[in-house]
Amino acid sequence: MASEATFRIWRGDASGGKFVDYNTKIEEGMVVLDAIHRIQAEQAPDMAVRWNCKAGKCGSCSAEINGMPKLMCMTRLSDINLDMPVIVEPMHAFPSIRDLVTDVSWNFKVKKTIKKFKPRPPDAADGTWRMQQVDVERAKVAAAESSIQAAQEALKAIEEIQVYLRVTAPFSGVITTRNVHPGALVGTARDTLPMFQLETQHRLRLVVPVPEADVGGIVKGAKIAFTVPAYPGETFYGTLSRSAHSIDPKTRSMPVELDVSNPKGRLAAGMYPAVKWPIHGNRPALLVPPTSIVTTSERTFVIRVNGGAAEWVDIKKGPAQGDLVEIIGPLKEGDTVLRRGSDEIRQGTHINVRTVPATKG
Ligand code: FES
Repeated sequence: MASEATFRIWRGDASGGKFVDYNTKIEEGMVVLDAIHRIQAEQAPDMAVRWNCKAGKCGSCSAEINGMPKLMCMTRLSDINLDMPVIVEPMHAFPSIRDLVTDVSWNFKVKKTIKKFKPRPPDAADGTWRMQQVDVERAKVAAAESSIQAAQEALKAIEEIQVYLRVTAPFSGVITTRNVHPGALVGTARDTLPMFQLETQHRLRLVVPVPEADVGGIVKGAKIAFTVPAYPGETFYGTLSRSAHSIDPKTRSMPVELDVSNPKGRLAAGMYPAVKWPIHGNRPALLVPPTSIVTTSERTFVIRVNGGAAEWVDIKKGPAQGDLVEIIGPLKEGDTVLRRGSDEIRQGTHINVRTVPATKG
């Protein structure tokens, strides 16, 4: 054991204080309270510290030693690493009075409120008590009843889980995707794919993004013709049932839904139909490659080459016709627009790229 150690002791009161280091001689068998007393006797006679029994019974010498609540009279220095300063401070649980002394009057107040234990009169003449067999049996019955109730709750939980083993389709249709097979482990919906994907096919929904310029053709109940690549030359019809009544700002189009009767199941979900959308009125339209049209969050335009310089011309986008797209705007036949438009090509930029003339639709 080292012959000298440093004790870092908190000095102060409720208004504040600081840790002060004291080096002191130590000997075999000393406890922390001995070292504190030696420091008090030789170096800090004004240091407040409380003790009483020195036997671990009264609790008067309680303090926090290296951060742990301890009794100083029962904490041997041989159990502490003395290579580092031993930190001694008052118990934080109680209001500080001075140095290592705290106000523990709360303990006495609480003690007065604790009702004293009063045993019933002894059962036997020798002052002892007897437990009746009926009490023992009553306790056994109560324990057995608790076990029955626990077993019934466990059974109920298992029955509830069993209900989930039967999967019922919410409607009749065709399973188009199967993600589990007999014997596979099925987890919760949170971490696995759905077990099956079920589709009804006798009635399909066709969603058509109608360009803003053509939403005037939306008439509820109208029959709309469309074709699909699977049946070339054949025309199918859907009934216009509902529209979003709102233009998608990204595509400047309005989603419209057609109900398509498919009693023979010839059409399939996911097919890519070409819809013949009714257009009202004659309007002058030009056709350009789709890459010529630039759509930003604020405008849709093409870039016209005017005297060798770029000019942004706002247009409205119409339906596709073959490889070209109809546009409506202040352009005239013979105008030259960039085949590949981009909002990075600013107004007035000198153009030195390949161009394609607009075509009349
Ligand atoms: S002095 Fe009594 S417990 Fe330490």
